[in-house]
Formats: sequence, structure tokens, C-alpha cells
Amino acid sequence: MSVKGKKNSWGFSTRAVHTGNESDEITGSISPPIHLTATYEQDAVGKTRGFDYSRVDNPTRRRIEENLSSLENGQYGITFSTGMAATTALFQLFDQGDHILISRNTYGGTYRMSMEVLQRHGIEFDWVDTRDVNNVATRIKKNTKLIHVETPTNPLLELCDLEAMSSLCKDRGIILSVDNTFMSPYGQRPLELGADIVMHSTTKSLSGHSDILGGALITNDAVLSEKLHFMQKATGAVPSPFDCWILLRSTKTLALRYQKASDSANEIAGWLANQKKLSKVVYPGLKNHPQYALAAKQQTTPDGSPIFGNMISFEIGSDNARDRFINKLQLFTLAESLGGVESLICSPYSMTHAALPDQKKLEMGITTSLLRLSIGIENAEDLKNDLSNALR
Ligand SMILES: Cc1ncc(COP(=O)(O)O)c(C=O)c1O
Repeated sequence: MSVKGKKNSWGFSTRAVHTGNESDEITGSISPPIHLTATYEQDAVGKTRGFDYSRVDNPTRRRIEENLSSLENGQYGITFSTGMAATTALFQLFDQGDHILISRNTYGGTYRMSMEVLQRHGIEFDWVDTRDVNNVATRIKKNTKLIHVETPTNPLLELCDLEAMSSLCKDRGIILSVDNTFMSPYGQRPLELGADIVMHSTTKSLSGHSDILGGALITNDAVLSEKLHFMQKATGAVPSPFDCWILLRSTKTLALRYQKASDSANEIAGWLANQKKLSKVVYPGLKNHPQYALAAKQQTTPDGSPIFGNMISFEIGSDNARDRFINKLQLFTLAESLGGVESLICSPYSMTHAALPDQKKLEMGITTSLLRLSIGIENAEDLKNDLSNALR
């Protein structure tokens, strides 16, 4: 399954469509086959045809790992059954007594897994405001081995300057990993900005149709890749061949879907910001976002245009207003998750961030009346009308 042609010179969408998608060598089928197999015939003891057991490797998984790594401009892709399995494998690279710093208001499941699982195994975690790199520097300890950043964060859309953070990490000999789920590789490529590892919940924009779960880690570092592949094989939370195939099919349209959703989100955020009933609208593409300039510099499409993503958060004022507003919506569905073709709304306080202590949520501004929108690819005008009717 070698890649035909010069893959490094191909543009993003060409790689999305072709890398890992070579036609089947035997039948010529344009759509690649799904290798639904747990195990493989061996020609003699110790003589395989490149595959021996599907937890270790699978041809369909290999295709999507090649595709995803090429979209992030990385060399090595390691996929998992969910985003949480990917983050867990990443953190399991570290040992008892090691310290990991993580962006505050990161996805609630990352908090739950760190504090309720790996902390019990002796890894130390701290949560830090990663908007200010100098602030992060003061929180580094002798045993800090990893800084794990989400930018923009979930759900408050706080940014971290990845170039500055990577130069801090390089100075201090710390690995930098970035959860790039919100922007997708179409909107931000952290490896180009100096990160060591990119993490994705492929459940979101990469698959884009709310029909599978998945996770991925991508790196250019051969040693890290070997350790992560070992973790994938040893712990076993691998994606099924079918899910790999669905994801391979989905990334072909990532650029189209993400651009459309982001354009609509930009328009809708501007409109929401003018609604007197809403006290706070957070979107990195609004000029009043405190990190607008950083967003425009760091979040770019593969051809270099600024892009601000498909997520918007806003304050509706009270729990009563929240419930009435949600009940009136017809197009936005109340559900966890994001990045699908359909627009969703959620209350991070009691849904995606339920695992965080209430006090922590309130300190950060995740109130019970904060709502988060994931904008899909419907007509923006219809989405605006839906929000407008519900607000009225
Ligand atoms: C930013 C982010 N990272 C990680 C995850 C975890 O991914 P998964 O649900 O695929 O395990 C999520 C899920 O919502 C997320 O939003």
C-alpha cells in the first residue's frame, strides 16, 4: 500500500482524498476494502505477510493512520477506539512520580481520567491557565514531563500561543502535546508550530457525521511513535476496521465541511453578539475576543487564511431562560459532542464538564446558564432563524 506520487508536495485536500486511499491492489476497487479480520494466515512459523493480529496492525487502520498523519504534517499516526483512549495512552507514557500540566477548562473527560484514574497510579496532575505562557512557566516542577494543551479550550475558547509554549517546553526539556480536536488539522497544525504530539478525538470534525467514536495521536518523533505504538498494542483500545474505514471516507470532505461550518459560525457569532438578551458571546473570530490576534495568526487553513472554528459559547442569564431557549429550538439538537454536519447545543456545566467539581467550573466561568453551540453545515440563515425564534 505504498503511496503513489509525491505526497509531500500534494495540497491538503489532495492528501485528504488520496493518502491512504490507494485503490485495492487485487481488485482495483477505488473505495479501499475493509479488512474485517482479527488474525492473519502465516506462511510458516515467524513468517507473516506483514500482519499477524489486528490489535497490533490492520491494513484498514494502517490506511487511516497514514491519512491522518499526512493531514497533520506528521510522520507517524497511532489510532485508538476513542479520543479518551488516545489521551490515556499518551499519559500512560509517564511513570509514578511524574508531573503533567494540563490546560484548565479542557474537556471534562480528560479531567476525570487524570484525577480519578491515573492520579491513583501515582502520576501527578495540575491544571493551569495556558493563555499566559509565563504563568505556565511558574507552574513547572522538577518532575514535569508533559504539558498537555487544548487550544481553543472547551468550552470557553481560551487560546494558547503554541509557538511560545513549544519554545518554553524545548528550553525545559518537556514534551508538548496538543488536543487539536476543536480546530482539526484543516484549521490548525500544531506540529508545524513546534508541538511534539497532536491528539484528536476523531469522533468530532474528522469523522464529522456523529456516527463513530475514535481517537488519534500523531507525531514526527520516531522514539515517541514507537512508545505510543507499543502502548496501543499493549493496552488494546484500538478502533475497529469498520470505524477506520468510515473515518477514511470522512476525512476526504473535511476541508469542505470545516470551512462551511466555520464560515457559518463566524456569521452566527457576529449576529449573537448583537443580541441584547445575551450577556456574553465567546468566539475567537469576534474582534472583542481577548486573543483575536493570536487566533488569526495561529488558526489558519492550509493555504494560510485565518479560520476561527465551528464552536461558540454564550451566557443566557438564568437556568429558566436556558431551558426555555433549548425547548424552542428546532434545528439545534441538545446533545454532547461537536464537529458533526448537524448543529448541536449543550450545557457544558451538566453535560460535557459534569466530571469537574462545581467550584472549579464556576471559578472558570462555566456557569449553569452557559451554552455551547457546535455549528454544522446547514444553511446559516436557517440556523440564525432557529436561534432568533428561540430567543424571542
Ligand atoms: C476536545 C476533546 N478532547 C477529547 C475528547 C474525548 O473524545 P472521545 O469522546 O472520542 O473519547 C472530547 C470529547 O468530547 C473533546 O471534546
